[in-house]
Amino acid sequence: MTLSEDQIKGEIAKRWDYSSQRYDNYHGHGIKSDEEVAFWKALFERILPGERLNVLDVGCGTGEISLLLAGMGHTVTGIDLSEKMLDRAASKAKAMAQAGRGVDARFMIGDAETPPFENSSFDAVVTRHVLWTLPNPQNAVTGWTRALKEGGTLAIVDSLWNDGSLETRLRRKIGDFLILVVERNDISKDRYSPELNSTLPHSRGISADTIRAYMENAGLRGIGTENLADLIEIQKRHMPFRYKISYKYNYYAVCGTK
Ligand SMILES: C[S@@+](CC[C@H](N)C(=O)[O-])C[C@H]1O[C@@H](n2cnc3c(N)ncnc32)[C@H](O)[C@@H]1O
Repeated sequence: MTLSEDQIKGEIAKRWDYSSQRYDNYHGHGIKSDEEVAFWKALFERILPGERLNVLDVGCGTGEISLLLAGMGHTVTGIDLSEKMLDRAASKAKAMAQAGRGVDARFMIGDAETPPFENSSFDAVVTRHVLWTLPNPQNAVTGWTRALKEGGTLAIVDSLWNDGSLETRLRRKIGDFLILVVERNDISKDRYSPELNSTLPHSRGISADTIRAYMENAGLRGIGTENLADLIEIQKRHMPFRYKISYKYNYYAVCGTK
């Protein structure tokens, strides 16, 4: 059976609704240590020059990156397809405000492939771990570029998640089993079905070179790639063995200017 565009987006939203309560617990998604917070802040200070920027976080999920950026003094709008991921983001923002650490962040439903904003609305568009899950990635990058002001920055953080090798599959199976035993959580249920994966051009992750090509086609210039191998090492230092065993990714940020 071939899924329509609406069915694909509906399945994706359902899948992330399902994961929303556990998402921040997962190492690599939730930001787990002060050392990791410091790394992300230093990265964004380098790639998003300027203060109090108007930033769009596409596919913001539970707002880990949106709230970090808002905590750095930026005004952040996060959009996502999943209502429950957005609920988590909003409740985290509320908890920060109640703790006297209020930030300027708003969260709303929106499709990353057709961001619901006027052209030239944002100083920066950021996105982490999202491009791989879009059926039409070139349209998305073109739409993000449109939403940027002249001179604005697009920053895409993503990775090749799965090289398809026997070793990778074995490591995943062992990690999944240990998480099931220790956390009583069947993490395999958080993954996309083979049918859904078959609708996505980058279901195993996306290379920095492919992202660069999408950015070039969208008309961005000064495109640069920053390897995030050091971030992987920091994350692994704070990760239990059951996560570490399969945590072997080629991770990077690719940035371009409009
Ligand atoms: C791996 S999570 C990343 C969340 C967040 N960016 C982060 O770094 O923690 C992928 C997110 O993309 C969202 N997503 C997938 N397709 C989307 C689309 N077409 N439009 C908006 N959000 C989408 C999912 O709902 C999910 O919250």
